[in-house]
Amino acid sequence: MKLWGGRFNKETDKAVDDFNSSISFDCKMYKEDIEGSIAHVTMLGKQGIIPMENAETIKKELGNILKDIEDGKIEFSLEAEDIHMNVETILIERLEAIGKQLHTGRSRNDQVALDVKMYTRNAICDMKNEVKTLLSVICKLAEEHKATVMPGYTHLQKAQPITLGHHLMAYFQMFRRDYERLSDCLKRMSLSPLGSGALATTTYPLDRQFTAELLGFDGPTENSLDGVSDRDHVAEFIFDLSLVMMHLSRFSEEIILWCSDEFSFIRLDDAYSTGSSIMPQKKNPDIAELTRGKTGRVYGSLITILTILKGIPLAYNKDMQEDKEALFDAYDTVKMCLPIFAKMIDTMTVNHEKMRNGAKGGFTNATDAADYLVKKGMPFRDAHKVIGEMVSYCIGEKIALEDIPLTKLKDFSDVIEEDYYTAISLETCVNERNVYGGPSPKALAVAIENAKDFLNSL
Ligand code: ARG
Repeated sequence: MKLWGGRFNKETDKAVDDFNSSISFDCKMYKEDIEGSIAHVTMLGKQGIIPMENAETIKKELGNILKDIEDGKIEFSLEAEDIHMNVETILIERLEAIGKQLHTGRSRNDQVALDVKMYTRNAICDMKNEVKTLLSVICKLAEEHKATVMPGYTHLQKAQPITLGHHLMAYFQMFRRDYERLSDCLKRMSLSPLGSGALATTTYPLDRQFTAELLGFDGPTENSLDGVSDRDHVAEFIFDLSLVMMHLSRFSEEIILWCSDEFSFIRLDDAYSTGSSIMPQKKNPDIAELTRGKTGRVYGSLITILTILKGIPLAYNKDMQEDKEALFDAYDTVKMCLPIFAKMIDTMTVNHEKMRNGAKGGFTNATDAADYLVKKGMPFRDAHKVIGEMVSYCIGEKIALEDIPLTKLKDFSDVIEEDYYTAISLETCVNERNVYGGPSPKALAVAIENAKDFLNSL
């Protein structure tokens, strides 16, 4: 007999049980469910809604159930539908009449809203830690590669020389924002829905402030309809996870390019790459590729939750049961990707020479050559044109800007002197880009200091 079976004259069809049941996935929330029930029953006892000694008995038994679940002693039942009714059914089996008092003044609607919120809060804290670990690895690598010159790209065409440290610190900024976004999301989840009831609270004198505090919330939600029907935090969290994945995916794409034979900027550690079943020579960046691929999966969860929520009237509707798999899958996926990605980049080997040679080719110092003319008094647009002509000449001659002899340089502009060569050297191009936020080792040192301050503040 179902806990809600009183008004029914027939058992539900077996297919309906299968269809309706969520225990196969919401069993993940057993801990949150039991913690929520303990807070609820403590409050019921304190308020005299049920006898204090019964509240104590229930509390104790809920603790036993928690332990039994963790010890693998409990087999959940599909008929009991979800984690909430599974726990309650076990409680009633063990305590009989006393167990039946637990659900006084509560609905599964506020119960599930609470469980999901608690689960999400824990998941966010966990994600923040994973992002923090990645940030530390990036910061450490950036420091090691403060002076490792590489080409910077726009349109995937060589643009201007930068350093690997500067490139890595761009990712630091992205993941730092992700970290802060997760913290912000947490701030908007500070109110407990417990006590909202099915939709309109109850007539019992519940102390919602008390249960909220017991569960680590700042207070109760302000509106009972919103309390049971709000899943904004699920959508927001999955959005935050989607951005984490988008950043990981962009980074993955670069890792994949960089370890190709054509780039050869990096080599992945053998422990973080895979081979081919037919081609003996292959070493593939599967981790980066899978991370890039799994990004689609997390985006899928985001669209799932947004679509589930878009058409449901207030307050609770069963559609909302579908929130959990999207939430769990997105969280589990990112939780898998972040640590392995951090280890993969931490163990990669950088080919300094390849990066440096890459920065040398492709006229990456052309802007600096134009700036040289500007410093000699030429307006920038004229300088741009002169250097453009010089680049065209070099392409024909298959040489670089620094290879043009001084006598020939004079044909392009008579303001060019011997100091042209140092002005456009790779070192000058990088070291003189000293503007705040720029790639020079000096400017980068400031960025790394700021990054360390941020990490130390966490
Ligand atoms: N398993 C349900 C869910 O995940 C719990 C709430 C069910 N409430 C209800 N009135 N049917 O949403």
